[in-house]
Amino acid sequence: MKIKKFTENKSDLMEILLIGDEDERMIAKYLDKSTIFAVYEQENLISACAVMKIDNETVEIKNIATFQAYQNKGYASILLDFVCKTYKKDFKFIILGTGENRHTLSFYKKRGFVETHRIKNFFINNYSHPIFEDGKQLTDMIYLKKSL
Ligand SMILES: CC(C)(COP(=O)(O)OP(=O)(O)OC[C@H]1O[C@@H](n2cnc3c(N)ncnc32)[C@H](O)[C@@H]1OP(=O)(O)O)[C@@H](O)C(=O)NCCC(=O)NCCS
Repeated sequence: MKIKKFTENKSDLMEILLIGDEDERMIAKYLDKSTIFAVYEQENLISACAVMKIDNETVEIKNIATFQAYQNKGYASILLDFVCKTYKKDFKFIILGTGENRHTLSFYKKRGFVETHRIKNFFINNYSHPIFEDGKQLTDMIYLKKSL
């Protein structure tokens, strides 16, 4: 397994980024400003995470996804840990926003993130079509934060 860092040619990773965020126009808003870390087994892309600097003490995870065939094997956990260690040197906090999905929320909470606030109706107001996860329509964006 290896983790590659991408600061250019990031749209090559669009297929996996669309698993974490299904609207390409939303991805375009942060892709240029993000660094992407991607996990490979041999030359196969497995998992990816886009990280953007917010200010001098905070970075934000804009997208994290694992191809379905490789989910629940620990890849996103390894990637998240790698990202936290990478940014710990220069930043104090890592944040992220996600929809109200109990699997996703428990994934982050188990790994030290705590809820800070929510943006009401974010998914309704910012996406061109309704987003469903586990049969439930996403409405609010829930923000979580972890000290690095
Ligand atoms: C969330 C996600 C990145 C986890 O990737 P992964 O490589 O399977 O992660 P790991 O194997 O390290 O850990 C699996 C954990 O993810 C949880 N999980 C979160 N969302 C999940 C989902 N939609 N489907 C399956 N498992 C999910 C599992 O419950 C498991 O939790 P646990 O280990 O704490 O019990 C992956 O499920 C995914 O790509 N989901 C779709 C995109 C997405 O929802 N991204 C996050 C939006 S912010």
